[in-house]
Amino acid sequence: MTQFATYPSLAGKVVFITGGSSGIGADIVTAFARQGALVAFTGRNAASAESVITAASSKGPTPLFLPCDMTDVNAIRAAFDTARQQLGSIDILINNAANDDRHQLEDVTLEYFDNMVAINLRAGFFAAQCAASDMAKSGNGVIVNLSSVSWKIKGAGYPVYETCKSAAIGLTRALAKDLGKQGIRVNTLTPGWVMTEKQLRLWVDAAGEKMLDDNQCLNGRLVGEDIANMALFLAAEDSRMITAQEFVVDAGWT
Ligand SMILES: NC(=O)c1ccc[n+]([C@@H]2O[C@H](COP(=O)([O-])OP(=O)(O)OC[C@H]3O[C@@H](n4cnc5c(N)ncnc54)[C@H](O)[C@@H]3O)[C@@H](O)[C@H]2O)c1
Repeated sequence: MTQFATYPSLAGKVVFITGGSSGIGADIVTAFARQGALVAFTGRNAASAESVITAASSKGPTPLFLPCDMTDVNAIRAAFDTARQQLGSIDILINNAANDDRHQLEDVTLEYFDNMVAINLRAGFFAAQCAASDMAKSGNGVIVNLSSVSWKIKGAGYPVYETCKSAAIGLTRALAKDLGKQGIRVNTLTPGWVMTEKQLRLWVDAAGEKMLDDNQCLNGRLVGEDIANMALFLAAEDSRMITAQEFVVDAGWT
């Protein structure tokens, strides 16, 4: 049986996770709950959120669901206010929400472009702004920005998404410098191709399986828990002198 680490430094920490009602984000919610952290997570689907709450609360403290469209900056700010009121000052932010909708260059309208940037880049920036104000007051904190291997492997068919995901690394390095002296660490977590229910439903066909076999060094498939485990390490005191870096969990693709 696989056994994973327990991080005592995460117990009682207030963790804000964006896009936690499905996919990798749901696994991150459960992973932090298992550590005894107090989790607030955003999402748009109350029914999906309910199943995440059920899964997480069987492992640890019941997480708080915050309905929030992350393309709406005022809604992001309101979600942070609610999280603070109910759980306390934010210690850890996991910028996970994203939209990997496929598109071709010639079809991208200004409205589509702006909407993709709003979820895949702007949301994380303003979430970091909200979280950093709490973290600066307490003199410590952790921000983890989710990138993607998609732009490194020159993935076809989602250029706006890939552009935003490459920018996650710039965001990390800029904020790491600006916030470091206030005790705030900022790192990038870059997943490979992770077998979420959505990926399996939409894109993991026979050609996709072959691509994985041809490109990963390791056999097997990444699951959300593999990404969540790295998020835990980056949030815990075990990584206390690590900042401005990128951590790739991709079974050796890139
Ligand atoms: N799954 C993969 O193979 C993979 C690969 C590389 C990187 N990633 C990154 O990992 C993270 C999680 O990936 P995932 O596959 O679980 O993603 P996903 O497509 O399931 O979306 C993540 C979450 O964001 C939410 N979301 C999307 N638009 C939103 C909006 N406007 N407001 C609020 N929430 C919104 C979704 O509902 C979902 O809960 C993302 O940052 C993604 O870019 C995933």
